[in-house]
Amino acid sequence: MIKMKDKTAYKALESIAEDISLSRLAKSIGKDKSWLYHKLKNDIVNGVEYRFNVSEYALLAERLHKLAEDIHRCAEELDSVVQDANRTAGRYYTNENVFEYPLFKEWLKLIPELERTTILEPFAGECSIPKMLEQYGFKWKCYDIEGGDNVVKRDTISNFPKNHRVCITNPPYLAKNSATRRGLQYPDCEFDNIYKYCLKLMLDNCQYVAAIIPDSFIQSGLFTDRLYGVISLPEKVFEDTEYPVCLAMFSPKKSADFAIWRGDTFLGSYRELSKTALLEYRDERWVFNDENGSIGVICADGNKSRIRFVKGEEIDSEIKESSRFLVRVSGLPDDIDRDTFIERCNTILEQYREITKDIFLNSFKGLRSDGMYRKRIPFKVIRLILTYALERMIV
Ligand SMILES: C[S@@+](CC[C@H](N)C(=O)[O-])C[C@H]1O[C@@H](n2cnc3c(N)ncnc32)[C@H](O)[C@@H]1O
Repeated sequence: MIKMKDKTAYKALESIAEDISLSRLAKSIGKDKSWLYHKLKNDIVNGVEYRFNVSEYALLAERLHKLAEDIHRCAEELDSVVQDANRTAGRYYTNENVFEYPLFKEWLKLIPELERTTILEPFAGECSIPKMLEQYGFKWKCYDIEGGDNVVKRDTISNFPKNHRVCITNPPYLAKNSATRRGLQYPDCEFDNIYKYCLKLMLDNCQYVAAIIPDSFIQSGLFTDRLYGVISLPEKVFEDTEYPVCLAMFSPKKSADFAIWRGDTFLGSYRELSKTALLEYRDERWVFNDENGSIGVICADGNKSRIRFVKGEEIDSEIKESSRFLVRVSGLPDDIDRDTFIERCNTILEQYREITKDIFLNSFKGLRSDGMYRKRIPFKVIRLILTYALERMIV
């Protein structure tokens, strides 16, 4: 029986023998290397067969467990160095071809003399974008802070390449507050996310820009004067994250409006959609995060559930000033029937979602069971639904 076990021990140790020092292992339990080898091979020395006894197994196992813990800790430390480096560089490599959508093809057609143009990829990573667009036979000039095959090593944020008309990329993303919290490097600029600064650099230097950037860009109101259109990307674009993103395309022509698509479906023009959304509608009567608020809002989609209005007391978690996911709101006049009001708010909310195609809700990490990004409702949209519902009850 023990002999079988010895074979097992031999096999087990053999599988890691090249990765660890067997002599140090033997030493750590007060023995030497030859003792360990004799035991492992069941050698017979001076007529005595070497075999492990149970307490020797236990000692070896204990030492190996300790070693495994040290190795694990070391790997985690290296992981965190890699994660910090990736965060600083905002490194998400594009994994899904997002360039087959009609609006992107339409945007390409706007560019004069495209076939004679060298396209700039200022944050190229492993050149996934030039590879995805290979069928067009474009010429590319690629840069990245890391350098690489066919990629010039350069800090393009502090030294942006000049003399390019067209730029297609997926720039780094990094929130300023996250960089500050983690002690990561962040450029000296007014933007709250590094991708916005990269976008400004690209727009200042290039006439035509297509960039894969966070989906929240659509609500940011930035750089809209040159925005040709935005495709909200329904699929998971990066292998290692479900970060919601869109493909934003710019041209040199100034315009007061732009097209919004979700994948290959046209949702509407920004102006039309925002008109329906009554984005400017404001009412100061509502107080958010009031712990006695009679109206509650579950502000985010779950995997299967949807954002909804409920009775205030159904929001049982302690309301914090900063709560953005569960909120209690006060301001409903006493003479309004609360149940009817909540029902009306939910009906308006569903109509709002249908009409605006969720464009004015924030996407956040994680897909719903229907494969779409989960959405969170901003306070300004809650406010307008409450006001809209109230006005219709008073009349
Ligand atoms: C989001 S990744 C995208 C990579 C590539 N465009 C793609 O779509 O797969 C951003 C890239 O920007 C690079 N990067 C970050 N900071 C940079 C800088 N200051 N100058 C140049 N490249 C930078 C990172 O190394 C990373 O490869």
